[in-house]
Amino acid sequence: MDHIKPCFWFPLLFTLACFMGPSWSQTEAEILLKFKTSLTNYGSQLDDWDASGPGPCGGKIWTGVRCINGSVYGLRLENMSLKGVIDIDTIMGLQLLRTVSFMNNSFVGPFPDVSKLVYLKVLYLANNSFSGAIREDGFAGMNALQKVFIGWNNFTGPIPRSLAALPRLVQLGLEWNHFEGRIPDFEQDNLSLVNVAHNNLYGPIPYRLSNMNPSFFAGNNLCGKPLAGCKSSRKKRTIIIIIVVSGSLVILALIAAVSYILKDPAMASRFKEPEKKKPGNTVTVGQISEEKSANYYKKLGDNARLQFVRSERERFDLQDLLRASAEVLGSGSFGSSYKAVISNGRAMVVKRFKHMNNVGKEEFREHMARLGSLSHPNVLSLVAFYYRREEKLLVSDFAPNGSLASHLHSRRAPGQPGLDWPTRLKIIKGVANGLAYLYNELSNLTLPHGHLKSSNVLLDHTFEPLLADYGLIPVVNKEHAHQFMVAYKSPEFSQYDRTTRKTDVWSLGILILELLTGKFPANYLKQGKGGNADLATWVNSVVREEWTGEVFDKDMKGTRNGEGEMLNLLKIGMCCCEWNVERRWELKEALAKIEELKERDSDNAEDYSSYGSEGDVHTSRAITEEDFSFSVQG
Ligand SMILES: *[C@@H]1O[C@H](CO)[C@@H](O)[C@H](O)[C@H]1NC(C)=O
Ligand SMILES: *[C@@H]1O[C@H](CO)[C@@H](O)[C@H](O)[C@H]1NC(C)=O
Ligand SMILES: *[C@@H]1O[C@H](CO)[C@@H](O)[C@H](O)[C@H]1NC(C)=O
Ligand SMILES: *[C@@H]1O[C@H](CO)[C@@H](O)[C@H](O)[C@H]1NC(C)=O
Ligand SMILES: *[C@@H]1O[C@H](CO)[C@@H](O)[C@H](O)[C@H]1NC(C)=O
Ligand SMILES: *[C@@H]1O[C@H](CO)[C@@H](O)[C@H](O)[C@H]1NC(C)=O
Repeated sequence: MDHIKPCFWFPLLFTLACFMGPSWSQTEAEILLKFKTSLTNYGSQLDDWDASGPGPCGGKIWTGVRCINGSVYGLRLENMSLKGVIDIDTIMGLQLLRTVSFMNNSFVGPFPDVSKLVYLKVLYLANNSFSGAIREDGFAGMNALQKVFIGWNNFTGPIPRSLAALPRLVQLGLEWNHFEGRIPDFEQDNLSLVNVAHNNLYGPIPYRLSNMNPSFFAGNNLCGKPLAGCKSSRKKRTIIIIIVVSGSLVILALIAAVSYILKDPAMASRFKEPEKKKPGNTVTVGQISEEKSANYYKKLGDNARLQFVRSERERFDLQDLLRASAEVLGSGSFGSSYKAVISNGRAMVVKRFKHMNNVGKEEFREHMARLGSLSHPNVLSLVAFYYRREEKLLVSDFAPNGSLASHLHSRRAPGQPGLDWPTRLKIIKGVANGLAYLYNELSNLTLPHGHLKSSNVLLDHTFEPLLADYGLIPVVNKEHAHQFMVAYKSPEFSQYDRTTRKTDVWSLGILILELLTGKFPANYLKQGKGGNADLATWVNSVVREEWTGEVFDKDMKGTRNGEGEMLNLLKIGMCCCEWNVERRWELKEALAKIEELKERDSDNAEDYSSYGSEGDVHTSRAITEEDFSFSVQG
């Protein structure tokens, strides 16, 4: 039985309709007249399609019909504003039909099932309003097809593999649609034109297409010949480091120059601005280096009052908190965090946020109170906060085992094991439960978490995960959020500037893939929009190119007899990462599937055939199985 519902586009049973072709006794006139009944909006343009005459190829040839030796060879119904349905099952009866064009009309709906026209050589459907994904096998078996023009529609989803596999393909136009994913490998010798301009494609251009006109690839995220080469992310990183380092050197040189100038009184008098008076004893924190700011808080005095958001917790004040030497834990995109031990010996974390001026003081307080009311074993408790206009401090419990990111990506001492499979499973179950809790409690937020990533999954002493930095979107400055927060790296935000209730599910999917593969999603290194071409490449490198046991983190122990369940989790991750928001899973669904996972495979071997991300071994196996089960049923 299928364990998990398929969520990707997947070849389905399609043969049933093939048995219901037209009856061969129909004349071509009857076939065309029947075909006409499913069209609409043709006005008077098809008036000469008339049952009383000598037929489509006798005497005056019917509008849009092409004949050879008295039989219909082509249909060319263009520029007619036609609507309705292209009734493929009916025109299958035209035995010599080789070319069809319905270009520049007003057809809507899914791609017609043209693959039944197995002798077709030429297909033009460009400039209509067809939409939706084309099935992977949409062109399967069309061994004569040479020209396909389906550009200027609204198609979505991947370029079907069956299209790339057409043995005689010579010309292909897919431009101005919303095809997404990578360009499949085209290998036809006679290919002379492939135009994929203005879609949502990414990744390398297949070698076979490297001599095409570069404009055929414009308006995508593609790389490689005939466009610029594909840089590996490592190279990019090196370049960024070089830029940062050389940038810093330039700044240092400037500082040196300026201080030299200011030391010279004659020069200084020309450059110096009138000195600003320091107001009272307040100092702007931004002027203090990160290491020194903990000391700064110690000196703040009574003004620094923490506001507690939990009634059951012992009170302490900022001075208590920072009396002992505060340890800098690290600095993130918002600011630094410190660990401090309060008088009863309990360790707390103080996190600075410098970009939280989106709401006023009262609203901020209310939002913190709301976050403080949350209580779940997988959600890190917010305990208190400190409010200043320029910056905020959020105080929460300390998690002794650090973040998931540190376990997955930092170098371990020799002999120290990586997280094993049972622990990783426990972590992802906890994460999913914590996230579901946030969805429930923060139901009015589009992004109940908003910043879900491995460094915001903390681990307590039993490696139970605790979600951190959740629910902050409403208070974070928009620009900063858009630049740094994970939700805004999602495909829907970079493409359509929107986030949805499924955006956090996407982050969960990335987290799952990261957890299983131990690979760092390179995209998070990039700031701002447009980073997800890289992330998509990353997801793809994880799943498409290494869709075998090899994909799993080599440091993951305890995987014996769990490979099937690991694979199931990988597939869940893929369903959560689905680019198309409509097809992406709801959190509820993801949670249910994650909850079903076990450490070990059950005795009844799982049937993975209901999946198939992009074909490969699993898909082809699934097809044969499904075909078999279909013929058994009759
Ligand atoms: C048309 O008919 C002629 C003569 O009967 C024949 O030689 C030719 O092959 C036919 N063409 C096609 C395309 O069937
Ligand atoms: C439809 O319009 C195009 C562009 O105007 C033209 O090239 C083509 O021949 C027209 N098709 C028919 C069947 O008239
Ligand atoms: C498309 O068809 C319309 C008539 O429906 C015609 O006016 C227009 O010129 C055609 N455009 C092209 C590019 O063929
Ligand atoms: C589709 O229509 C647009 C705008 O009318 C036109 O520029 C384009 O050439 C047409 N493409 C095809 C393939 O007919
Ligand atoms: C494609 O869909 C969008 C949004 O639904 C619509 O605005 C646009 O007109 C459509 N384009 C075509 C060619 O049908
Ligand atoms: C490629 O083109 C050549 C020459 O036109 C032809 O002989 C050959 O059959 C074609 N190959 C395919 C696979 O269509």
